[in-house]
Amino acid sequence: MNPSKLKMGLIGGGGAGFIGRVHVTAATLDREAELVAGAFSSSPEKSKRCSAEFSVSPARAYGSYSDLLSSENRLPSNDRIDFVTIATPNHTHADIAICALKSGFHVICDKPMTTNLDDARRLVETVSETGKVFVLSHNYSGYPMVRQAREMIRNGEIGEVLAIRVAYKQGWMHGMQAGITPNRGAWKSDPLKNGPAGSLGDVGTHAFHLLSFITGLKPTALMCKLKSFSSHHNLDDYGQAIMQMSGDTMATVMWSQVSHGRLNDLSIQIDGSKGALSWRQESPNQLIFGQLGKPTMTYDRHPSADYTTPDAKIASRLPAGHPEAFFEAFANLYRDAYRKMRCLTASKEPQLDGVTDLCPSVWDGFDGVLFTHHCLNSNARGCSWVNWCEDQE
Ligand SMILES: NC(=O)c1ccc[n+]([C@@H]2O[C@H](COP(=O)([O-])OP(=O)(O)OC[C@H]3O[C@@H](n4cnc5c(N)ncnc54)[C@H](O)[C@@H]3O)[C@@H](O)[C@H]2O)c1
Repeated sequence: MNPSKLKMGLIGGGGAGFIGRVHVTAATLDREAELVAGAFSSSPEKSKRCSAEFSVSPARAYGSYSDLLSSENRLPSNDRIDFVTIATPNHTHADIAICALKSGFHVICDKPMTTNLDDARRLVETVSETGKVFVLSHNYSGYPMVRQAREMIRNGEIGEVLAIRVAYKQGWMHGMQAGITPNRGAWKSDPLKNGPAGSLGDVGTHAFHLLSFITGLKPTALMCKLKSFSSHHNLDDYGQAIMQMSGDTMATVMWSQVSHGRLNDLSIQIDGSKGALSWRQESPNQLIFGQLGKPTMTYDRHPSADYTTPDAKIASRLPAGHPEAFFEAFANLYRDAYRKMRCLTASKEPQLDGVTDLCPSVWDGFDGVLFTHHCLNSNARGCSWVNWCEDQE
């Protein structure tokens, strides 16, 4: 073990688990951290069997997350984990995160943060009580050109933000069949494990966070229509929300997991009074900038170009023309989280480093859960308008 590296514990990711493995690659990309422990599966036997594939000592492949947290806590402080990453089904996030924070560990948690508002409130309270770092992996905020768009808007380059459209389209839900679908997809159809928001919670929350992250705007009211086209479950697999944002900005968000041929098609367009920006996750190294009476420009991810903003430069690892994508964007969230962890250890404020704090926080997670809560309520009330302040204490 390298003493200068932060130590990671992974919860989830075993067997065919998808995003846990992405987290490990991203968390260790810059060699600032290493994976030393895990509770990789809900099955104790399977979790222990995963030690070799994750190159973790068999003694530190634990049978459950509670075993991981209590056993790691008993180790000397320079041996034990510094943080856990939670890559398990949605219904487990709140309890695991709260337990980890109370055990003294920082937390990186996947989205949606929780499946209901009460759990989201509990988690917000625990983060503030413990003072530990909590980062929600809304990984699309880690792309350099997304950060570039955010800074260009803050610098006034498109003027006042008038309208925003975000769409997140996938098509894999059609391939799922009751009783035949492999385990990895099955929990997403079970409201007890997935929560009541289907595609809304799965991809709608990413779309909502992208919009909030880039523009810095919050909704004041929304109306939403949800639909389930799939025969194998009753959760939404398609939906759209119209939002009135702070100021006079209009926004629409749509999400689908039933669009044939759409793989991971997340895109955003922002219309301003002076210009417009658009970005697409499947061409993540380009940002399109349109201005009245001028040719539309494509800004390439280019860390040494004059037009590249400071946050976009910092978020880039490779020279222009060498595509960066999903892993690197995820790794940017880890890099930001590590800076916060190291600052806390050194008892200094992360902001004093002179670098913008871009980590999606527990409050961003809360807003995502509130977004799903309001969308579900609006849909249940026949697509009526819901005030953003409703049900907030
Ligand atoms: N940020 C993203 O882009 C992104 C992408 C996919 C999934 N996710 C989120 O990540 C989470 C996991 O999704 P996934 O697609 O990887 O699911 P998955 O079904 O592929 O993997 C879940 C893993 O968790 C393990 N697990 C289940 N219960 C556990 C427990 N109590 N303790 C330890 N391990 C347990 C399973 O064995 C499995 O390895 C979900 O909340 C999902 O919404 C985020």
